[in-house]
Amino acid sequence: MVSVAVLGAAGGIGQPLSLLLKLNVNVTKLNLYDIVNVPGVAADISHVSTNAEVKSFLGPGQLDEAVSKIDLAIIPAGVPRKPGMTRDDLFKINAGIVKTLVEKIAENSPRAFIAVISNPVNSTVPIAAEVLKAKGVFDARRLFGVTTLDVVRASRFVRDVRANTDAAALRVPVVGGHSGNTIVPLLSLASSPVELSEAEVKELTHRIQFGGDEVVKAKDGAGSATLSMAYAGARFADSLMRAMKGEQVVEPTFISLSADPEGAKEIRQLGAGDLEFFAVPVKLGANGVESIVPLGGQPTEFEREAIKVSAQALATNIDTGVNFVKSA
Ligand code: NAI
Repeated sequence: MVSVAVLGAAGGIGQPLSLLLKLNVNVTKLNLYDIVNVPGVAADISHVSTNAEVKSFLGPGQLDEAVSKIDLAIIPAGVPRKPGMTRDDLFKINAGIVKTLVEKIAENSPRAFIAVISNPVNSTVPIAAEVLKAKGVFDARRLFGVTTLDVVRASRFVRDVRANTDAAALRVPVVGGHSGNTIVPLLSLASSPVELSEAEVKELTHRIQFGGDEVVKAKDGAGSATLSMAYAGARFADSLMRAMKGEQVVEPTFISLSADPEGAKEIRQLGAGDLEFFAVPVKLGANGVESIVPLGGQPTEFEREAIKVSAQALATNIDTGVNFVKSA
């Protein structure tokens, strides 16, 4: 019995993500919100023969209703990258969009889980946190930056160099943030050991960090990852919903480390320092983040260095998000 709102549902990610959510048996209500085209998307998806009730909400006048009585809001609203753009270039437009949407969620469903897909995630999640704090409803266990695509890419790219790997089963912890060198795959701590040379680790790490660019380039001006992102977003939502029902599920995600100060000590010592936000593997439960999961071993020297580089860049990204709300 989960009510889900997708905000930005008519977009490249929003449409396939909404379709995948319609297929999820845990979803009972699916509110689709966008500022354009959403009635058609909702009508189309509503014909799929599963029990979830699909409703369309068009434009700011219907936003309050779209986010009323929901358990989970997923936000892929905003503009995507074009060739030559970094995720940070999107900040100017997407920051305001995320701020407005989270304000409305805070007012109408203050206990809802919020999963932010809109980039730059390293800054939009701090924006969401500041908005929730200002409204007095911030719960660090309930706010997530969706970094699942980095985890999905890590599993799949390892299989590209080791064909005997099961890409669907292999789990690589990916920590840090969600852009370029803030993304730190800990290949040495994968769920099953993968023997890789030093050169392969370097190449794979770079490919996971900049995998999004492969898609942006191939789409040649038509956007960034949408289908693999929809898969990743649906997987994260499914993990959250299974956790709501009492299952314990582990997913790496970009969170406020205040959700589990004790569990955060390991990553802080490894280089996250006093940053408020960092992607870490998280055990999800009925209330969201139950705990930060220990990494299960010592990262290599190369990985430790990458965590430090990530933390440096993240500090600026986080400040940018926090200042955007504080100076508004
Ligand atoms: P898109 O342009 O195809 O779709 C965005 C949708 O958001 C459009 O339908 C648009 O009308 C809607 N929108 C714009 N302003 C809105 C508002 N104020 N309220 C509600 N909806 C609004 O873009 P796409 O490809 O779906 O990407 C969406 C976002 O997801 C981008 O910021 C992109 O960078 C990000 N992204 C994140 C990834 C991640 O791993 N977290 C991976 C790939 C993309």
